[in-house]
Amino acid sequence: MLHPEEVIKTAFPDTFINELVARNDIVDVVSGYVRLGKRSGANLFGLCPFHSEKTPSFSVSPDKQIYHCFGCGKGGGVINFIMEIENLSFPEAVAFLARRANMPLPEQENDRESKKRARMLALNREAARFFYEQLSSPAGEKARAYMAGRGISKATATNFGLGAAPDEWSSLEQAMREKGYTDYELFDAGLIKKGRNGGYYDTFRNRLMFPVIDVRGNVIGFSGRILSGDGPKYLNSPETLVFNKGSNLFALNLAKKSKNGYILLSEGNIDVVSLHQAGFDSAVASLGTSLTSEQARLISRYTNQVIIAYDNDGAGQKAAQRAIGILEKLDLKVKVLQMSGAKDPDEFIKLKGPEAFQMLIEGSENQVEYRLGQIARKYDLGVDAQKVDYLRESEELLARLPNAAEREVYCRRVAADAGISADVLIGEVKARRRRLLKRTEAASRSSPEKQTQPAERQYRYSDPASAVAEEGVIRLLYLDPALIRRGDLPAAEAFSSPTLAHIYTVLCRRLKAGQAVSADLLGAELEQGEVALLVDLLQKPETLSNSARALDDYINRIRQRRRAAAEGDDLLGILQERRKELK
Ligand code: GTP
Ligand code: MN
Repeated sequence: MLHPEEVIKTAFPDTFINELVARNDIVDVVSGYVRLGKRSGANLFGLCPFHSEKTPSFSVSPDKQIYHCFGCGKGGGVINFIMEIENLSFPEAVAFLARRANMPLPEQENDRESKKRARMLALNREAARFFYEQLSSPAGEKARAYMAGRGISKATATNFGLGAAPDEWSSLEQAMREKGYTDYELFDAGLIKKGRNGGYYDTFRNRLMFPVIDVRGNVIGFSGRILSGDGPKYLNSPETLVFNKGSNLFALNLAKKSKNGYILLSEGNIDVVSLHQAGFDSAVASLGTSLTSEQARLISRYTNQVIIAYDNDGAGQKAAQRAIGILEKLDLKVKVLQMSGAKDPDEFIKLKGPEAFQMLIEGSENQVEYRLGQIARKYDLGVDAQKVDYLRESEELLARLPNAAEREVYCRRVAADAGISADVLIGEVKARRRRLLKRTEAASRSSPEKQTQPAERQYRYSDPASAVAEEGVIRLLYLDPALIRRGDLPAAEAFSSPTLAHIYTVLCRRLKAGQAVSADLLGAELEQGEVALLVDLLQKPETLSNSARALDDYINRIRQRRRAAAEGDDLLGILQERRKELK
């Protein structure tokens, strides 16, 4: 498993970054490395320092304080330029420019927000310790019994830092107050709630507690499973300054150390705990919500292969389909486990043992097998009429497989299952594919967005038609921040490009918090290539006279493409393959 350095960009206050940028004029800074000669319009041009060229395509805008190369696509603000040319991290580049301008670096301790964060993390850690201690005290009797009943060992409990929330109204509150934390702080951390009479009570009571720990080892929140009585089965910490459900995964702190080479994605906390206990130490779960693209991005930092082990019911299978789509956008290889005779991984391991689960993993279906299996399940192949429907639906899927060898392998398998000749099916699939390609090519000829691909290969758009609209949404929000107040902005998951989805997430977060945006400010949270892509898309023309209307159009386009994608319409992908085949 990969162990990338975590990209931790220190939080400098916006005011500091703005002053730093103001005191390091981009034209001055760039001139130290590039001869900026020709002026064309508002921009200065020179030979790009990042790729070799004979005619200048590297531009610097003194007004916008950004640079952009029309040749290689690099771009950003002055901080990004220094990162790129001096090969420095964001904080290092900031320090470099601060020295250049004789500015002292701000003391992190003075930053109120980071102080508050640190204090909340410390409180969470204390709370986790409290719950853990209760587990071996009389108050933890019920939780111990529950764990025993579910076969969770003491060692596993320690590994996960499991704990017990006593069946009392304010045991945590009292313990934390003794440690010097105020009700205000406990409330902010989501550990206590306000009662009707104005008093406070513990959020987590009578529950088995799972601390949620991020990849840096911080306790960022909790998940509590009910032990008895009424109430939701699971209760999670609310969103806080340090806890964001959609961008964290339960147990990734442990899974990232695994040598398995894949991440096992399951639904339940208990499943994850059981899997680790049985030796499958790369299991994680999303925190009670369906998988988000942020979580997929997080996973992709550690592995390129994900095995989905969701519950065996309809909801689980539907969630698996959805997750496949999100993971594949990030070029992750996805397999889906089929557990027969058990409702979830926990039950499977209890009933059949870890070896059987290992065999399941080794034999786990890739997504083609999985989808074909889903189709086969719908029909009774003993009935001729149903067999025909089965073949028709399978052909549709087979015709869309990009790889010729893959098409043939699965054609043979489907033909064998249906008891027809493989050659007949291969012929049919070929004809269907030809029709598909023709349709797609016609569609793409009439579409104006052919030149939309980003310069960097890793950011290639899988659905350029949607990506153009996604770029538009970002551009409009950037240029006209008031649009953030619209209620119906799309979720980042609706975006087809994970990179654009990430830029969009960061941009929206800042705008919603009323913060300003610039290439340099966003650069603190984006990777260099993402900043370049942002600067690049900002160069494209935009209608600002009626920005609300333009935004509507983009949003509609994204929704349309998403519906098409949901219907399995990967025609553009097919077209790209076709181009490769023709080369
Ligand atoms: P067991 O049923 O005890 O085996 O637990 P499980 O962890 O397998 O849970 P289950 O399959 O019922 O649910 C899967 C996941 O969905 C849980 O781990 C929770 O994250 C989430 N979840 C389940 N029930 C609730 C609920 O009532 N509220 C919330 N917020 N999340 C829930
Ligand atoms: Mn379950």
